[in-house]
Formats: sequence, C-alpha cells, structure tokens
Amino acid sequence: MRRVSLTRYLIEQQRDKQSIPSDLRLLIEVVSRACKAISNTVAKGALADVLGSAGSDNVQGEAQKKLDVISNEILLEANEWGGHLAAMASEEMEQPHQIPHRFPKGEYLLLFDPLDGSSNIDVNVSVGTIFSVLRCPDGVTEPDEKAFLQPGTKQVAAGFAVYGPSTLLVLTFGDGVAVFTLDREQGSFVLTQENVQIPEETAEFAINMSNQRHWEAPVRRYIDEVVAGATGPRKKDFNMRWIASMVADLYRILTRGGIFMYPVDAKRPGGRLRLMYEANPMAFIVEQAGGAATTGRKRVMELQPEELHQRVGLVIGSKKEVERVTRYHVE
Ligand code: AHG
Ligand code: MN
Ligand code: MN
Repeated sequence: MRRVSLTRYLIEQQRDKQSIPSDLRLLIEVVSRACKAISNTVAKGALADVLGSAGSDNVQGEAQKKLDVISNEILLEANEWGGHLAAMASEEMEQPHQIPHRFPKGEYLLLFDPLDGSSNIDVNVSVGTIFSVLRCPDGVTEPDEKAFLQPGTKQVAAGFAVYGPSTLLVLTFGDGVAVFTLDREQGSFVLTQENVQIPEETAEFAINMSNQRHWEAPVRRYIDEVVAGATGPRKKDFNMRWIASMVADLYRILTRGGIFMYPVDAKRPGGRLRLMYEANPMAFIVEQAGGAATTGRKRVMELQPEELHQRVGLVIGSKKEVERVTRYHVE
C-alpha cells in the first residue's frame, strides 16, 4: 500500500493539482504540528498535571480548563513565526492575536477552537481542535475583529483533529475531505481516507436531550418522530448518541452518517456553538462530504457574521435529515 504522509499529500496538492498555494501548505503543516503537540499533552493527562481547571474564565464567561489554555498557547506559538499568517483568533481570546512585529506577515487569517469538548478532558473522553482559514482582506495590515467577519463560504481551508483512541486530522480545501491518522512512532500524520462521503441513509441522531423542555416546536416535532421509531411516522427505529465533544460526534457522522443538533432554544436563544470557529469549519467539511449544515432556517456558511464570538443554532450532518429539520422550521 502506498503510504502518503500529510506532508506528501500537501506537496502533491500544491504541485500536481495546483489546488493550494505554498503558504497555505505551510499553514496546514504548522497547524498539524501544533495538533500533534496538543495530542501528546492531552495523552499525558494527570502525569503532566494538565487536567482540571485553570482557575480563569474566557471571554464567553466559561471556566477555562488548563488544557484549553495550554492548547491555545501551543497554537499561537507554532503559528506566529512562519510568515504565513496576518493574525489569529481563538475561542480563548477576546481580541484577535496580532503577529509580533519581529516576524513577517502572511495573507491568511486563522481561527480556532483550541480544545473542543473540554468538559470531557477530566473524564478521559475524546476531545479535539477545530480550525478555519480565511484570507486577510486586501490592504489590511493589522487585522482587527472586522477583518475576520467573513461568511463561511469564504473559507479557503478548514479542519479538525480528534484526540481519541487514535489521533485524527480531518481536512478540506474545498475539494473533498481527507482524513489522516497520527503515526506516533513516525511522528507524522498518514492519509487513511480520501473523498469522505457521509452516508445518506441514517438512523442516528445527536442532541442534548436535557434541553428538551426549552426546544422550539420544529425541533420537538423532529425528535418526537425519530423517538417514536418503527411505530411512528418515520417507520424505523433510530438510535441516539451524544458525546458532548462536537469533534467526536461529527467524526462519527462523517463515518456512518447521522444528524447533530445544537439548536437555538428558549434557554439559549442565540444558540450554544460559536459560528466562526465551530459551526463554519464543520459546515465546510460536512458539505464537502455531501452533507448539509443549517441554523434550522438558513445555510450556516452564508451567514454574515457580526461578532467574532457570536453563537449560532446548528443542525448538521446527513443531507436529507438536515433538510427535513430545516423544512419543519420553514413550514
Ligand atoms: P467547548 O468545549 O469548545 O466549549 O465546546 C463544547 C461544545 C461541543 O463540543 C459540544 O457538542 C457541546 O459543547 C456540548 O454541550 P453540552 O455541555 O450542552 O452537552
Ligand atoms: Mn468547542
Ligand atoms: Mn473549546
């Protein structure tokens, strides 16, 4: 079997397919290196004293875990000096992070959720990193929040890592989705799946059922119908999964189909997940794998962002199921 490392894959994309410029290749290499470092740190767990709370809150008022802070630092340090970025933005930082003046600047903007699913860190369940790449607007040298406020359709690349039984990197440049598995002995990501396609037929849904009493009518209707199973209108039994790490839930959906929902509801009228570094990159990947992503009403990637840390309702996964939920909202 031909063994293709991430490095080789990226060089071939650049050289043979001419689908990515060299700066973008460097950017992805650097992000993947940071993900390796985060993976190693996550794996050490209590041995490296990285579990538990950092004792601080982030901009969204959520308690930061030590690993949220460490992962953010790893990504910032890895990406500062390569000359491929104009600025970075993160779930863990209120304002964009400028590239220090002693380093050259590039033409891309990088956004990330350094550690997704952080409630799972201390209980040894999969967590991950999500990232999105945009182009810096022409003529902008010190990108502020406004430079980042571009719709998801403008993404030039997106990906996520899952730190689970294996460490995986899922990647798109807008020309399909590829998956790489970390070979720890070699220290490199190896291509293990190309042209990922989300199965159309699905009988699995993911939603936090504890929010049921807050849901809007269309979500209630959809869930009532799938829960009714073979004796209900859907005429088949559905199964439920909720890992509470979107990276892990979405990787399952890429592999065997399904629908994931964190909709707006009476408790969180703006939604739970963040548009710029959670919903948009995941929507890009899922659409590239033949799935769909909406807010329940509109296509996620077409939303014009108004704030860096804005939240959004999210319905994502197998196309037909997402379309059904969206139809229930529109009806
Ligand atoms: P983060 O750890 O980056 O704040 O994101 C967690 C997100 C997502 O990964 C997951 O699907 C969801 O929050 C879990 O929400 P509940 O705690 O409501 O289950
Ligand atoms: Mn997250
Ligand atoms: Mn996070």
